[in-house]
Amino acid sequence: MAHISLQGRSILGLENMTAAEINRVLDVAGQMKRIILSGQKKRNYLKGKSIVTVFSEASTRTRSSFELAGKYLGADVINISKSGSSMTKGESLRDTLLTVSAMGTDAVVIRDSSEGAALFADQVKSPMVKTPVICNAGDGAHAHPSQTLLELFSVREAGKNIKGMKYVIIGDILHSRVARSDIYGFTKLGAEVHLAGPRTLVPKNLEKLGAIVQDHLEDALRDADAVNVLRIQLERAAAGFFPTTREYARLWGMNKKRLELCKPDVVLLHPGPMNRGIEISHDVAYDEKAWIQEEVRNGVAVRMALLYLTLTEGKDIEADY
Ligand code: CP
Repeated sequence: MAHISLQGRSILGLENMTAAEINRVLDVAGQMKRIILSGQKKRNYLKGKSIVTVFSEASTRTRSSFELAGKYLGADVINISKSGSSMTKGESLRDTLLTVSAMGTDAVVIRDSSEGAALFADQVKSPMVKTPVICNAGDGAHAHPSQTLLELFSVREAGKNIKGMKYVIIGDILHSRVARSDIYGFTKLGAEVHLAGPRTLVPKNLEKLGAIVQDHLEDALRDADAVNVLRIQLERAAAGFFPTTREYARLWGMNKKRLELCKPDVVLLHPGPMNRGIEISHDVAYDEKAWIQEEVRNGVAVRMALLYLTLTEGKDIEADY
């Protein structure tokens, strides 16, 4: 395996990573998954390292999988959420990060509702404290790099060759950090990325990033190798992006009939949490083509790889499982 070092690098977005670096993360995630499946999950590769998650937005999967990833590798991990921290007293993100850094933290995993929050966090420097590695766990509608990495990993694990594949993203692309990261990540590895959804939720200018905007869902789905169904952000539905959730389900929801338009071995993804019965039908959510639970498991392996590669020299661990 080629030695590509990410030591000391913050993971802010896939636009800043090369295809070779992305592949290196996926390869190491493969080794991490074997460790998870071996039953001997606890390792000491990150012994002595400390990781803090700072989440000012809700999360189930990303926060807990980063925490488990750090713990499986032997790091100390603590979690700070907005409620219950001094952020509720008005402490700024900058001061929160300086405070966390002053405790000797090696990596900070950050989720925030503002686009650019992770980049801002990476630029917070002080002569008094060591600057931690920053992992972006989702910043507004900008980026969610570890989510895309787990999707790339899942599609590859399903036996698909990413180079030349048809990858389709359906739904609320306007508000989706996953969609933006997916466009960068999948196009970098050679996939053809198609976008489909209500016109109000699919910005045409994403074509500048190399995606193909489809006007008709059926055209997007035909012969698709992988489909990522995005969550309809119900908290924004009232803003008039579509008339009703029932109409959304009828026009844009993924159902059995639409699934049949795709290749027979299509890989169906959803970042979660799902609105079953709206963007995805109940039966399709549990179809054998749906990789949704496996995505969650792969999220731990990918985040183990990210923490391992950014916090160590990234020595090969191939024989160690
Ligand atoms: N996919 C994802 O980011 O899920 P959470 O919001 O639960 O972390």
